[in-house]
Amino acid sequence: MTDRSCLTIVLAAGEGTRMRSSLPKVLHQVAGQTLLAHVLSAAPRGAGTSLAVVVGPGHETVAEEARRVRPDVMTFVQPARLGTAHAVLAAREAIARGADDVVIAFGDTPLISADTLARMREPLQAGASLAVLGFRAADPAGYGRLIVDNGRLTAIREQAEASASERRITLCNAGVMAFDGKTALRIIEKIGNANSKGEYYLTDAVGIVRESGLTAAVIETGEDEVRGINTKAQLAEAEQVMQTRLRKAALDAGVTMVAPETVFLAGDTSFGKDVTIEPYVVIGPGVAIADGAVVHSFSHLVQASIGRNASVGPYARLRPGTSLGEGAKVGNFVEAKAAVLEAGVKVNHLTYVGDAHIGANANIGAGTITCNYDGFNKYRTEIGAGAFVGSNSSLVAPLKIGNGAYVGSGSVVTKNVPDDALVVGRGRQTVREDWARRFREMKALAKKPKTG
Ligand code: UD1
Ligand code: MG
Repeated sequence: MTDRSCLTIVLAAGEGTRMRSSLPKVLHQVAGQTLLAHVLSAAPRGAGTSLAVVVGPGHETVAEEARRVRPDVMTFVQPARLGTAHAVLAAREAIARGADDVVIAFGDTPLISADTLARMREPLQAGASLAVLGFRAADPAGYGRLIVDNGRLTAIREQAEASASERRITLCNAGVMAFDGKTALRIIEKIGNANSKGEYYLTDAVGIVRESGLTAAVIETGEDEVRGINTKAQLAEAEQVMQTRLRKAALDAGVTMVAPETVFLAGDTSFGKDVTIEPYVVIGPGVAIADGAVVHSFSHLVQASIGRNASVGPYARLRPGTSLGEGAKVGNFVEAKAAVLEAGVKVNHLTYVGDAHIGANANIGAGTITCNYDGFNKYRTEIGAGAFVGSNSSLVAPLKIGNGAYVGSGSVVTKNVPDDALVVGRGRQTVREDWARRFREMKALAKKPKTG
């Protein structure tokens, strides 16, 4: 590692017209996170680092996303899209603060790794003024070509300016560059726009570095890491590359997946030991799965935490704010949202639990619905530990069902139910004290150790 300070500038002012979308390009998602978030997460962080993002005019949503991911980020607006060098100069004020290293990355290159960005800084430490990230392109069309002479990088030629022989070069510019902070501004300010597009090309920095008698180095990486995203087809390709990486990382971490190619993960999915994920599962952002848990086929999970040895699905939907305790079971055609299910809770079939807390070992029968919305507001349902809710019950929130309470099948429960009470009701709720007494006796009997 290095003790040099570092400023990373992420260029994200492009319109992204080829995405054919009203959403700014860098706000499209790969593996449940925006393209911008991926790049920002890879940027050097910690002591001595700073971060800037250059956004297009009117793209306040892009600046907001940057702040969400990295609250310490500085944002700058490039008033007109006059080229990558012009975009960097929109962040002139940040460069003028004088970091030792200035790393430039593109907001539409989400597969770039923190490792590679760190590697870009090594030549600077060794005395180079500029490091350029290169890769061997299967099809180099459209990329800037790296002109290397006797092992030294002498220029980058943009596709539009390249001669026929230069176009045959497959070593291409990935777009990431790292400048020595002492000379960065001086070099970038010298870049002109005398080219066929009339744009200020950041890539012209290489020629200027060479003419000034300074050195420019190339760091190479694989093509998959530097795929730029300009179209929906490229977005889908990047998703595929990212999913392959995430699946491999999960398998390496010991997750069992018999058909990993059918499982979709997010960059932040965390796994304990001995987790099993069956085929055709979609896991969105913010999911943690603890030791021994099983996610059965066709389940969809977002911002949910799955406790040890818990079981989900098949065909379960866990929405944000769902938490399953140890050994809890959520079965088929169950939807949960903002619901805490403590250890040993069973919600096995055809149920909706929303805005709810369910105490340990409660059993929720098939077809139970927490009626959390009256058309205006959302209300909470609390179900006590060890409660039993019979099939096809409607629990009309706000509602508290006591510990150990018993709700008969088909009840419409509109009033709080005391601990250990028994409730039956079709359309109208009755608390049956006599039945409750009998139920308590039955439970007590069931608890007695079996003999014989
Ligand atoms: C650029 C490189 C090219 C490289 C390729 C890799 C230049 C001149 N060319 O070409 O050598 O092979 O990336 O993908 O740098 N941007 C702004 N403001 C601008 C222009 C661009 O913020 O005025 C941003 C875009 O949002 C994007 C990035 O800079 O994130 C690159 O711009 P783009 O137009 O995609 O450059 P390419 O033609 O792909
Ligand atoms: Mg591009």
